[in-house]
Amino acid sequence: MKYRRIKGTQDILPDMVSQWQYVENMIRQCMDLFNYQEMRTPVFELTEVFARGIGQQTDIVSKEMYSFQDKGKKNITLKPEMTAPVMRAYLENNMSNMAALNKIYYISPLFRQENPQAGRLRQFHQFGAEAIGSNAPELDAELIMLAMYINDQLGISNLKLKVNSVGDPDSREIYILELKNYFKPLLKQYCHDCNSRYKSNPLRILDCKNKTCKELNKNVPKLVDFLNERSSKHFGMVKSLLEDNHIDYEIEPYLVRGLDYYTDTVFEITSENLGSQDAVCGGGRYDLLSEQFGGPPTPAIGFAAGIERLLLVMQAQDKLNNDENFLDVYICTMGEKASHISMTWLQKLRKLGLRVDRDFLKRSVKAQMRDAHRQNAKIVLLLGDNEIENKSFSVKDMDSGKQSEISLKDIEKYLRNHLKTQ
Ligand code: HAM
Repeated sequence: MKYRRIKGTQDILPDMVSQWQYVENMIRQCMDLFNYQEMRTPVFELTEVFARGIGQQTDIVSKEMYSFQDKGKKNITLKPEMTAPVMRAYLENNMSNMAALNKIYYISPLFRQENPQAGRLRQFHQFGAEAIGSNAPELDAELIMLAMYINDQLGISNLKLKVNSVGDPDSREIYILELKNYFKPLLKQYCHDCNSRYKSNPLRILDCKNKTCKELNKNVPKLVDFLNERSSKHFGMVKSLLEDNHIDYEIEPYLVRGLDYYTDTVFEITSENLGSQDAVCGGGRYDLLSEQFGGPPTPAIGFAAGIERLLLVMQAQDKLNNDENFLDVYICTMGEKASHISMTWLQKLRKLGLRVDRDFLKRSVKAQMRDAHRQNAKIVLLLGDNEIENKSFSVKDMDSGKQSEISLKDIEKYLRNHLKTQ
């Protein structure tokens, strides 16, 4: 074979598509219950949307974007995340005129040129929610509850919810000075990447996965100790709302997230069923993003979850749903005449809402029965010269193995009754 898919991308084959549809349907149902409405944005945007929105110094913008110039010499990027495009669309379409609070959700493919590994792809899919227009801590709690609810409805357990507050930019500035003081005498012991992070964005040192750096990071000052009164109060409210609603969480004092737009609440949901890429879901407030895009002050909060990672967790926890792959009826034919007549029956039965198929490879009866079995057919209708003569079908119930002969005029009734009781 000459061609292979691009590294870090996946073909989603028919047997997996049914799992995707199951997850997507569940997401839509849950979003609907929480009154979030779907929104879709283009697959590419001006590069500026991401550079400004996510931050020049972040890994996503500095290393991972698929960017190109179009024929009009515009710098374009395939979207690596959805928060910046949603905010761009919100402002461009004056959505604040439609509702004071817009609760939006999306399911979308995204693109990041990362080093592929289990749970880390170059084209992956996220679903997420963005609530734009309120700074109420109740909204933070509701959004976290939504993320947890969806995981719960998918049957996923043993997740860890980690929360932190990154405060406002003023508190962060003081904190970063403090961090620099702490790191400075230790820099020689930190890895090469952390030494450059020290200059560009010392907060990123807290995310470093290097063993020595992780050890050195154990005594770093905590951001929560530098929050101003408003941020502390906001965080306190979010925590107490989570507790009152029995949402278990851990404070993760060094959780800063990999995108620069966050203010106040940040959170991540991780699963021990994933390897090093253990985050299923991440999010937080981004109260200043609208202004960064030239819009009016507009507080907002959101989260996104990786669907491939969710499916890995569901697989590990045996929660994948295989019910979708079956046929109600398989029509097995013997001879030219039966093959011809069976086409009319396919149509007739499909009009009744039944999932029906037949053989199109002129296979032997034995091979057709094997095919019916492989496709999880509930009932096989056999049609040959004898049956045509008798104006009947030989019927095999694939569960019980029982065979009977049913006249053509009674077959609809038989199928209705039989399939209803299964
Ligand atoms: P993020 O943490 O970059 O946040 O991504 C959210 C989730 O997307 C991750 O927890 C992970 O499950 C999945 N993900 C990210 N990168 C990959 C990848 N290369 N392969 C597979 N899955 C991946 C955001 O994107 C923010 N926009 C979330 C947000 C929404 N914050 C506020 N609103």
